[in-house]
Amino acid sequence: ASTLAEGAAQHNRYFGVAIAANRLNDSVYTNIANREFNSVTAENEMKIDATEPQQGRFDFTQADRIYNWARQNGKQVRGHTLAWHSQQPQWMQNLSGQALRQAMINHIQGVMSYYRGKIPIWDVVNEAFEDGNSGRRRDSNLQRTGNDWIEVAFRTARQADPSAKLCYNDYNIENWNAAKTQAVYNMVRDFKSRGVPIDCVGFQSHFNSGNPYNPNFRTTLQQFAALGVDVEVTELDIENAPAQTYASVIRDCLAVDRCTGITVWGVRDSDSWRSYQNPLLFDNNGNKKQAYYAVLDALNEG
Ligand code: G3I
Repeated sequence: ASTLAEGAAQHNRYFGVAIAANRLNDSVYTNIANREFNSVTAENEMKIDATEPQQGRFDFTQADRIYNWARQNGKQVRGHTLAWHSQQPQWMQNLSGQALRQAMINHIQGVMSYYRGKIPIWDVVNEAFEDGNSGRRRDSNLQRTGNDWIEVAFRTARQADPSAKLCYNDYNIENWNAAKTQAVYNMVRDFKSRGVPIDCVGFQSHFNSGNPYNPNFRTTLQQFAALGVDVEVTELDIENAPAQTYASVIRDCLAVDRCTGITVWGVRDSDSWRSYQNPLLFDNNGNKKQAYYAVLDALNEG
């Protein structure tokens, strides 16, 4: 295969990229995105502040720019994200208690109904656990509505679009030995045992000196998959883009049957939220980096 999408397709997996609507008029950007990837995640445009800027008034203008570009170019869309402590519009930040709980439910229903049958995978809940060694839920206005907010989000999502795969998505949960990883694992195990509808776990995979890649990532993917969920690498970027580390992540996913795909969090280094770390597969001019070739080779190995 000569592109990432074709390489992944050899293994019945997708290879995706985060896309920003304000770059869709840059032809260097869109040419690479169109050529190399077959799945698209909106980097910001499907988040709560973008899709429900005023309570009860949904706006899919920017989300649809991404959605339409993706579909016109034959790509699948991953929905990101419905319930999150961050990027809440001001009106939601001001809510608490039952009013916030109901607003979360209304938001999930509003967005998922609009895209019902069109977006096959959703990050329903994003980043609900604390960093560090506590293994606790992150404190947030959503968490303060009651510990059951996550399962309520998933049950609401299942009803809103029964055809969609529902994911929990988080960062720093790649290292099997981390307390945060174990906490999310325990939540997923509990959800599966009680019939809470969860289909997949997204491992964001923002690797850097503070959260370095560890080869036990493969164990993590295997352990979660053994609970009966699909696993996905959803926001991959690696500080300085070391080629061998990129290749290891690819091999880890390919080694686990239920690892269904990989998404990198941007096209060129200059498009990255951490552009100063040069963490992506294409340089600022759109040239393939060493990491790109290592990824493609890893996809062509098996
Ligand atoms: O759109 C406004 C623009 O109008 C304004 O002029 C400008 C001034 O700062 O800000 C623009 O919004 C920024 C937005 O990106 C679009 O560029 C926000 O300030 C900025 O905070 C936002 O950052 C995004 C970040 O999520 C917010 O949490 C990043 O682009 C995006 O890559 C990042 O993605 C997250 C995932 O959703 C979840 N996992 C972690 C990942 C990296 O942080």
